[in-house]
Amino acid sequence: MEFVDTHCHLNDEKFAEDLPAVVERAQTVGVRRVINFGDTLKSSAAVVELAENFAGMFAGVGVHPEEISGFDKNSAAQIFELAARKKVVAIGEIGLDYYWEKDSDARLLQQKIFIEQLDIARQLDLPVCIHEREAHGDALKILKTEAKGLRGVMHCYSGSLEMARELWKLGWLIGVDGPLTFKNSAKLPEIVKAAPREMLLLETDAPYLAPVPNRGRRNEPAYVVDVARKLAELRGESLETVAHYTTANAENLYEIREE
Ligand code: NI
Repeated sequence: MEFVDTHCHLNDEKFAEDLPAVVERAQTVGVRRVINFGDTLKSSAAVVELAENFAGMFAGVGVHPEEISGFDKNSAAQIFELAARKKVVAIGEIGLDYYWEKDSDARLLQQKIFIEQLDIARQLDLPVCIHEREAHGDALKILKTEAKGLRGVMHCYSGSLEMARELWKLGWLIGVDGPLTFKNSAKLPEIVKAAPREMLLLETDAPYLAPVPNRGRRNEPAYVVDVARKLAELRGESLETVAHYTTANAENLYEIREE
């Protein structure tokens, strides 16, 4: 059985001591490919470097909505440059975060920079990984008006079933992580039960959001199997089936190839 962890941050300092062991544990349980996402220019450069140094690692580059202060033309040029590097398969994580940002002008700036980075994805013909928190309406509006022709995923999905259905109609996938295994997973179980197979991606967002039974500890790509197991249980499918179609979805969206 093979899995892809389609969203993690192995460049995080929490992995500085034991990254090779983390990668080996992942491979042992069938997680042979991972995609690390940057959230600043610095971390974007770091994930590109990781991808170039580890087999089975790929990278997404972009600036996260909480990290946009100082974003300018030069920043966009740097993303272009990084995105052209080998093993970069996506623009992300980019998007909107209204949970942390309450100021309306600052939210408008988030929208502007989100749209600018969507434009980079369009120019480079790359899929997009979106971070969206408590900005459901604006995110959907931007996807409808500014993301025509683009493809991608709403990472760590936290919206409603209605919004998910709109996303699927537009061709956007949803990313499912550790919270699916939490007792307070709210609407998520109903949403994944309703999802068409081709609209689901597995991810960890490691080092954050470790699934049960490791909730509260450092997360790592090997634990994507715990998310897959929960998905299989909820949907009444075998783990093999979930592994098969989520891996195919990851390959189709991100065109991750073995080097
Ligand atoms: Ni993330």
